[in-house]
Amino acid sequence: MASFEPRIVAFLCNWCSYTGADLAGTSRKKYNANVVAIRVMCSGRVDPEFVFRAFEKGADGVLICGCHPGDCHYIDGNHKTAGRYPMVRNMLEQFGIDPKRFRLEWVSASEGDRYAQVVNETIETVRALGPLEWPKRLNESDTASPA
Ligand code: FES
Repeated sequence: MASFEPRIVAFLCNWCSYTGADLAGTSRKKYNANVVAIRVMCSGRVDPEFVFRAFEKGADGVLICGCHPGDCHYIDGNHKTAGRYPMVRNMLEQFGIDPKRFRLEWVSASEGDRYAQVVNETIETVRALGPLEWPKRLNESDTASPA
């Protein structure tokens, strides 16, 4: 398990979090490179299906970062995200995925340090949980014949 390197998919809102991630990079903040960043215009654009699709495609963890409450460029997109968050966590649990693999955080454009911290924390949380291997588990359930 010591060599396990988690694969994290991070959906970053264009206006705040993606810029925060960029700032982390240009400020040379150290954070783990196990993250595939996907830029979306708003955290509210992250349909729950995107989260499930990321796990289905092999992610060990999924992170959504958006503007702080009150700062969303589409007024209430992040409020919608926050409203969906507990529902998606519940659904993940129903599928046997530990909800700690899915995280929502607010990161502004000036918070490069915070972005690096959130990424590192997320990776360590997922690393402690171990590999998800959801595609393999899905294939096993597809081939299982009904009794
Ligand atoms: Fe950033 Fe909506 S524009 S969360």
